[in-house]
Amino acid sequence: MKLLSVVGARPQFVKLGPIARSLARHAGVTHTIVHTGQHYDEKMSTVFFDQLELPKPGINLEVGSGSHAVQSADMLTRLEAAFLKESPDVVIVYGDTNSTLAAALCATKMHIPVVHIEAGLRSFNRAMPEEINRIVADHTSDRLYAPTETAMTHLQREGLGDKAVQTGDVMRDAVIFHSAQATASSTVLETQNLTPGEFAVCTIHRPANTDTDALVTIASTLSRLADQQLPIVFPLHPRVRPAVMKLPGLSDKLQLIDPVPYLDMLKLVAEARLVATDSGGLQKEAAFLETPCITLREDTEWVETLELGVNRLVGSDPVQITNAFEHAVGSDSPFNADVLSKLNNHYGTGHSADIIVDDLLSWLALPDQNISANRNKHA
Ligand code: UD1
Repeated sequence: MKLLSVVGARPQFVKLGPIARSLARHAGVTHTIVHTGQHYDEKMSTVFFDQLELPKPGINLEVGSGSHAVQSADMLTRLEAAFLKESPDVVIVYGDTNSTLAAALCATKMHIPVVHIEAGLRSFNRAMPEEINRIVADHTSDRLYAPTETAMTHLQREGLGDKAVQTGDVMRDAVIFHSAQATASSTVLETQNLTPGEFAVCTIHRPANTDTDALVTIASTLSRLADQQLPIVFPLHPRVRPAVMKLPGLSDKLQLIDPVPYLDMLKLVAEARLVATDSGGLQKEAAFLETPCITLREDTEWVETLELGVNRLVGSDPVQITNAFEHAVGSDSPFNADVLSKLNNHYGTGHSADIIVDDLLSWLALPDQNISANRNKHA
């Protein structure tokens, strides 16, 4: 059985980790990784493969950056050649990036079965490129792995319930698997001169916050809060770096640093007083590591974190950011036993990848998948 995973961007490397580990325990399975090259900087890619102990990509398409059309079109062309060469029995896609979209579209047009991990997420905001990517990936996939009940409900509403399985969240698997290692090995607090519980972490990378005036508002608000409340460590995504570096008058207590490797990020989030982010993954990682989050967006796919009172949507409004920040600094931890148990119910207890892999291998063995016939069609 030949399985091929397509990844390209930082959060996908994290999602791949638990799946690759679980697949490696099955004899008779060959698992090849195709890296599209969407993220290519050492700090955005290589270091993640090293820290997550991922198998080296069998193929790197080296697509790099570009407009959505250029990047996706390049991926489609190069993926088609890779799929022809590898002739996989199934293509596995992850999350909602342009790499997800291209791989799902390319494979389905070649009649190769496609499975989507982290299916069914919806922000209901079509201005987000990820929303389009995930809708297309879900509707072109043959098997869908929904991390939460909410995601499962979205798939059912869109007529995709028969193809879908609720599994829990592989990012929770990754946090549980790597937390002890992060605690033991990361020296990021010492390097950045931070005291546990007495700093905040911020990340932004979404176009809505980085390619508009929102960037100036967010950065100046955080700079003021860093001066008045707590130092804020701010790892800069390459998308945002040039614009932030140009802003005048930012406080030294807003510590601008390079993107950090996975284990350092886990350590920062675990020890922070709060997280402020527009990332999808980080909202959950904060919850899993019992750190309150304020989300610099108008919407979120991870609505359970809002319902549990561990995450708050603030958009880019300075008053809302300030209120939520001050509230998180001044309040007791919202992570009581009830919240922790509900996090397990919503996101699983760290075995989601095994649930996915067991289902995937059984599903692939069903006669109607007719894998050899599929292979012949695109050979
Ligand atoms: C992508 C995903 C987003 C995911 C994020 C994680 C899409 C549409 N978006 O956004 O869902 O949350 O990854 O980080 O797929 N760049 C570099 N070096 C790199 C990568 C990017 O310098 O290694 C710069 C380039 O200027 C590039 C820009 O960052 O144009 C944006 O990169 P891109 O991969 O297009 O989107 P992300 O913002 O990273």
